[in-house]
Amino acid sequence: MRFGTPEGPVEAVSNLSFSLERGQTMGLVGESGSGKSQSMLAVMGLLAANGRATGQASFNGHDLLALQPAALNRLRGDRIAMIFQDPMTSLNPYLTVERQMTEVLELHRGLRRKAALKLAIEALESVKIPDAARRIHLYPHEFSGGMRQRVMIAMALLCEPDVLIADEPTTALDVTVQAQIIGLLRELQRDHGTAIVMITHDLGVVAGLCDEVLVLYGGRTMEKAPANDVFYRPTHPYTIGLLGAVPHLSHGDDEALVAIPGAPPNMSKLPAGCAFSPRCTLAGSDCVATRPALLSAGGDQAHVLRACLRSPAEVRAGRVA
Ligand SMILES: Nc1ncnc2c1ncn2[C@@H]1O[C@H](COP(=O)(O)OP(=O)(O)OP(=O)(O)O)[C@@H](O)[C@H]1O
Ligand SMILES: [Mg+2]
Repeated sequence: MRFGTPEGPVEAVSNLSFSLERGQTMGLVGESGSGKSQSMLAVMGLLAANGRATGQASFNGHDLLALQPAALNRLRGDRIAMIFQDPMTSLNPYLTVERQMTEVLELHRGLRRKAALKLAIEALESVKIPDAARRIHLYPHEFSGGMRQRVMIAMALLCEPDVLIADEPTTALDVTVQAQIIGLLRELQRDHGTAIVMITHDLGVVAGLCDEVLVLYGGRTMEKAPANDVFYRPTHPYTIGLLGAVPHLSHGDDEALVAIPGAPPNMSKLPAGCAFSPRCTLAGSDCVATRPALLSAGGDQAHVLRACLRSPAEVRAGRVA
């Protein structure tokens, strides 16, 4: 996936590949700017005018990247829904929440306005918006930031989608509401078999919800593995760095948080080899020069895919405190 820029084309995301079964959740993690949002916006056909995605995104026999706009529109908001990172960009400021929610149900479900209103109020109640029957008649700007985020979540869940792409859905919410929303997503998954792509910085959310985790850095996949492996047996130095940057209740005084040294990459100046190599404490000249493919880690971790030229044992041995 590339963007045309005044400095020339930038390959913002490259070789991204994953599949998701009914009822499964994949966590998409990585630092700011690693390409999490753009890769999923590409799947939804919502890249900016200077962006272009190539490849395939199959859903129930359709290639989303090749669908005509009208056909894509029928799927979007109905079978495939997205909770956007910034609620204000996807809520229409000129329409009440009631109109925006009932419109979705009228359009995709063929409901009458009254029946749609009832369902919409229930959806707001399910995301713990107090006094939903009154508040639904307000405009988006009359909601607080956290409440707007919950309105977005309720809207995305209205049609009980088969696939839900959730882009940092709980970041602006306090932890108790966050836990309720995660519970709600789990219920949706259990009751409707919804598959979820959860984009998040929060590895706590990953631990609570995800089966698989895909770790992105500079738009390149560093590691793809079952969530437990990512937490307990990470095989890529970048994943280890991410885990080191997470606060743990169990962290004692002698177990300080470790930030990954350096800054996120300049996408137009990525090295020929591993995107993470300029910041990696284990990088050798091979890592800088050779572009590593995503390979099985082998051994007891055959199901872990990693893009690192070091063996998991070397990575573990080189782990810095
Ligand atoms: N229209 C555009 N033109 C050029 N580059 C863009 C455009 N939109 C996004 N980018 C670049 O694509 C890269 C990936 O951005 P993206 O928004 O996917 O990051 P992210 O992982 O979602 O980050 P965050 O965690 O901050 O939301 C960034 O380097 C960004 O600057
Ligand atoms: Mg983003």
